[in-house]
Amino acid sequence: MSAGLERASGIEAFLSCEERRDLLRFVICGSVDDGKSTLLGRLLRDSNQVREDQIQETAEEVRASGKHSPGMDLAFLVDGLQDERDQGITIDVAYRYFGTAQRKFIVADTPGHEQYTRNMATGASTADLAVILVDARKGIVSQTRRHTCIAALVGIRQAILVVNKMDLVGYNEAPFRSIYSEFAEFAGRLGMQPAHAIPVSATEGENVLVSRGHTPWYGGPALIRLLESVDVSPRNQETGFRLPVQRGNRPAPDFRGYSGTIASGVIRTGLQVKSSLSGNQSRVARILGPSGDLDAASAGQAVTLVLTDEIDISRGDIIATIHGGPEVADQFAADVLWMDGHPLLPERPYWIQIGTASATAQITEITHRLDVNTLGRMAAKDLKQNEIGYCKLSLDRLATFDPFSHNRNTGGFVLVDKFTNATVAAGMIRFGLRRASNVVWRRMKIDKAARARAKGQSPRILWFTGLSGAGKSTIADRLEQNLAAAGRHTYLLDGDNVRHGLSRDLGFTDPDRVENIRRVAEAARLMLDAGLIVIVSLISPFRSERAMARSMVSRGEFIEVFVDAPLEVCEERDPKGLYRKARAGKLPNFTGIDSAYEPPNSPEIILKSAEHSPDELVEQVVRYLRNIEEY
Ligand code: ADX
Repeated sequence: MSAGLERASGIEAFLSCEERRDLLRFVICGSVDDGKSTLLGRLLRDSNQVREDQIQETAEEVRASGKHSPGMDLAFLVDGLQDERDQGITIDVAYRYFGTAQRKFIVADTPGHEQYTRNMATGASTADLAVILVDARKGIVSQTRRHTCIAALVGIRQAILVVNKMDLVGYNEAPFRSIYSEFAEFAGRLGMQPAHAIPVSATEGENVLVSRGHTPWYGGPALIRLLESVDVSPRNQETGFRLPVQRGNRPAPDFRGYSGTIASGVIRTGLQVKSSLSGNQSRVARILGPSGDLDAASAGQAVTLVLTDEIDISRGDIIATIHGGPEVADQFAADVLWMDGHPLLPERPYWIQIGTASATAQITEITHRLDVNTLGRMAAKDLKQNEIGYCKLSLDRLATFDPFSHNRNTGGFVLVDKFTNATVAAGMIRFGLRRASNVVWRRMKIDKAARARAKGQSPRILWFTGLSGAGKSTIADRLEQNLAAAGRHTYLLDGDNVRHGLSRDLGFTDPDRVENIRRVAEAARLMLDAGLIVIVSLISPFRSERAMARSMVSRGEFIEVFVDAPLEVCEERDPKGLYRKARAGKLPNFTGIDSAYEPPNSPEIILKSAEHSPDELVEQVVRYLRNIEEY
């Protein structure tokens, strides 16, 4: 059989013959023990893709590890990373290349272990087809459904179900049939095309490259034949030309070009195009590729376009055909796959990367969470690791994109944590949402400056943060008296008090605290606008939300005051008896005990409340204010 399969010595050689045969990108998903590496090992080994020296090495390693079992040598060919060898699981995504006379293949080998869903999503995002592997003895498990959901979510419309380990069920047809029908029903509900299914034994090589006669009741092709013949129509045909702009190039005054990789469609010199963000139109004067001028270019090519007119286009914009261009909006609905260990919190600001654009984004609503087992829509206040939710997002600026179902390259995004820089989610845009166009920001004649002048002061927000019992409210209260005595106009927004009205519907879970801080920040902003010196006294345990409050007002108006007392001191003081209750397990989510407090990295003021009296600390704040203005 292997005679019909072709060796490709390296990626270059492999891709150089790309024109001659078509290419199938697929992803293999399966649980840890389903035999994925063995299956892939067999595809690669029996198709002559593995060098002799690699086989030697592997055999020695297997002997050394003492883990020898049928098929293990094949698995070792594939599991390239030391870490995964040690753990006996596959992590990270490995792309492998092989080919037959009919077709070339790029396969993403992705991890089966639940915590590595992130890598599975990454591998699937470039694939046209998913090979879903299950163990004939176990059938469809939760992980199978999760992977199938993710595959569907990232736009894969075709799946091949490989029911592996058929040798361990005596090559019996009945279990195969029942697994197949359960899977077909599930994949169908996800909008996938009717799936093919193959009974396989990867260790014995049944129906991988050829049939060895163990499954006479199965009349279909072996896996490799199916991979060679499935029809995978090209994607991204729904949208026309799209060039997400990576940068504007101006090496000389008379040259201005826009560079990027074409996401879809074809471009020719002379064609009319537009900036999606501004709508301004022009014509393509030149198309520059890596080795000079081109007449035309298409999806996947990196080019620089020179236009006939000077129109304003910068990074994050998409140059597109003038008709049927991408959407432009600052809000959209999307499917979000949450990948971080910390849950998604509505209203928390994250960095969003959509194509070449970046912005700040908040998830304003989790409409529902998808139960991957039943495909039911569940109510959700947050999304935990590996969960999928249908959400609404709001950005701090306009972005341009296509619905993911029309264009995978311009319809996907990732969310990044602003403090850790970790990629926390992947998203697929369903459609743009328009802001209610009848709500506009009305400019008033009497503005903040006028109100501040009337009060003879510079409005500020003094944001006190710290543990419960650190002394925030005591100091804030005395500070307000001090300021009032000096004729200042003030207001004290106190956490406890706010929770009697504005935030009376909120508790102390992370999402509720995020919302509480957001509301207080909005209230403080209005009061700042009224010309007041606003004192906020709020535990506000999260850096993200304090940063958000800061970003809502002008530079210098927000003064972060960290009331810094060790947890032991606060607990010792325990003015409301809450620490005692929390320690006794009667008060869940108590800050400092079983709910996190993230101290500020660079607050304007630090008040050491265990070392100084409240009056001394008030004096410290007053001195600070005097320093920044003639007060
Ligand atoms: S925040 O986290 O949302 O900023 P906030 O400042 O409003 O907290 O908390 C107000 C007060 O609620 C605290 O000072 C404390 O007295 C009381 N409280 C009740 N339950 C808790 C809890 N689980 N964690 C922290 N404070 C709590």
